[in-house]
Amino acid sequence: MDSLEQLVLLAKQDFKDAPDAVALENAKARYLGKTGLITEQMKTLGKMAPELRKAQGAVINNAKGQIEGSLNARREELANEKMQVRLNAEAIDVTLPGRGRGKGGIHPVMRTWERIERIFGSIGFDVADGPEIETDWTNFTALNSPENHPARSMQDTFYIEGNDTEGKPLLLRTHTSPMQVRYARSHELPVKVIAPGRTYRVDSDATHSPMFHQVEGLWIDKNISFADLKGVYLNFVRAFFETDNLQVRFRPSYFPFTEPSAEIDIAFGSGPLKGRWLEVSGSGQVHPNVLRNMGIDPNEYIGFAFGSGLERLTMLRYGINDLRLFYEGDLRFLKQFN
Ligand code: PHE
Repeated sequence: MDSLEQLVLLAKQDFKDAPDAVALENAKARYLGKTGLITEQMKTLGKMAPELRKAQGAVINNAKGQIEGSLNARREELANEKMQVRLNAEAIDVTLPGRGRGKGGIHPVMRTWERIERIFGSIGFDVADGPEIETDWTNFTALNSPENHPARSMQDTFYIEGNDTEGKPLLLRTHTSPMQVRYARSHELPVKVIAPGRTYRVDSDATHSPMFHQVEGLWIDKNISFADLKGVYLNFVRAFFETDNLQVRFRPSYFPFTEPSAEIDIAFGSGPLKGRWLEVSGSGQVHPNVLRNMGIDPNEYIGFAFGSGLERLTMLRYGINDLRLFYEGDLRFLKQFN
């Protein structure tokens, strides 16, 4: 009895002294292993008389239970210590400044794009999107541009490899006007839509970039007149520039796909460019031939179209005098708009 109690105390001390899991399991073997001290005690039971065996067995089992209990307690303790060491090693200093990416901003031309969609959307225009790689028919022929029109020359248009189904070379659209044809041919009348997007021309100077943005507008119904064009466009520029105090002029012009046609100019309000006009849009009544190519009877339907330059509108809105600034990616310039 005494020796068993001592054994339990001894085991508890041994376990307590074990500095790690390996030492603890070795200590365990000394008491509970095949030749361990408790196991040896168990073996003595076989030789005992049944009465004694029962009583002594209970005592040994009790001692064994205590040893196992303290073994498990120490195991848990060591596991917790190990976890604590790991947690300390992997601790994160939440007060360190983050390594986040800088906040991006919306490009000024995209701001203009979004404003235009909002303004025309508010007066019932649908917004459409179309391909930048176009066919000769949609970009020129359907828009009543004759075969010898200068816009079709290599000097003005980017042609790309590959032909359309008629064997004509494919090209990068030179304006958003092909969207007039695409949209009208695939929608029920009346048609009331804008189509903003990228356009391409062999052109590069302070007010021209080889890639630029336009927004096409098209409204066709039974009686949409030039007066409606003026009303809609004036409403647009007043909303866009947030002022009624604008000098806008409709200057007679020529486009193959409109008749009559006008260019829309806006005067620079201030700064070194005060007094100068900037052309922001072509416009006019849709030509009867174009209506026919849309599958529309020009005796029944009439309407207007316009195509405006997004860079030009943006330049006017912010007083920027060189369009190339939009594409140089200079953050000092771009940050001013965000
Ligand atoms: N597509 C013409 C251009 O790019 C603009 C325009 C559009 C003119 C619609 C009239 C009607 O210059």
